[in-house]
Amino acid sequence: MIRILFIGDIVGHDGLNLSTDFIPLLKRDIHADFCIVNGENSDAGKGIAEKQAQKLLQAGVDVITGGNHIWQKNSINVLQNDQYKTLRPANYPPENPGKGFLLHKNEKNVKLGVINLQGRSFLPPIDCPFKTSLDIVNELKKQTSLIFIDFHAEASAEKQALGWYLDGKVSAVVGTHTHVQTADERILPKGTAYITDVGMTGSFNSVIGMDVDNAIKRFTTQIPKFFKLATGNLRINGVVISVNENSGKAIDIKRLNFSRDEYAGIKNISW
Ligand SMILES: [Fe+2]
Ligand SMILES: [Fe+2]
Repeated sequence: MIRILFIGDIVGHDGLNLSTDFIPLLKRDIHADFCIVNGENSDAGKGIAEKQAQKLLQAGVDVITGGNHIWQKNSINVLQNDQYKTLRPANYPPENPGKGFLLHKNEKNVKLGVINLQGRSFLPPIDCPFKTSLDIVNELKKQTSLIFIDFHAEASAEKQALGWYLDGKVSAVVGTHTHVQTADERILPKGTAYITDVGMTGSFNSVIGMDVDNAIKRFTTQIPKFFKLATGNLRINGVVISVNENSGKAIDIKRLNFSRDEYAGIKNISW
């Protein structure tokens, strides 16, 4: 059995520090074989810079996924350097910097394919995530039966549809981007682990990680200049997915949603 730890959108400095403090502990206590995080908001809320990617990799992250914010700040430097193991959604134009999938081999020589895709409902009209996913899945299947997908999308329906579309073809389809964790984790009939949104890692005294007063000002004035990260009430959101190594079918998916003080409860689950 292979276990994959995935942490949802890491927001800002506080989210980065919290996740890098706990990733080594989580990997040890839940016996994770792979760790993937969504890092599109780790550079003060928008994008990811080299120092944040470095910090995540040093904490034991294997692959960093992105989303719509991956084009902001200095993220392109990270995307263009393979050592950062950082993806951007695969269905942006192929000429764009970086790549949308990779094959990661861990220290036990187990290969995991990781694909990052982005939805098109309420987001830029890029290429079809469904058709793009099939081409990449067929390519990766030549080398591994273990395939993990971060589908960065706004609409629950689009995420559910991709989960069903790929059921039995990949080990997991997990949603990101809304920053709000959903309680619909399950194993689909043909063996794909699914959740509509994993949630975020950062301040929960917030509107999806942003300062509450600033977020209200944005909505009440419609002026997009108000932007400030929130602080306090920090939580980690993620999922732990167990997969049969030979078949690539998921066996179990569990949600993680905890603060520093609540970690003992996570640790004491019999993983
Ligand atoms: Fe995000
Ligand atoms: Fe996003």
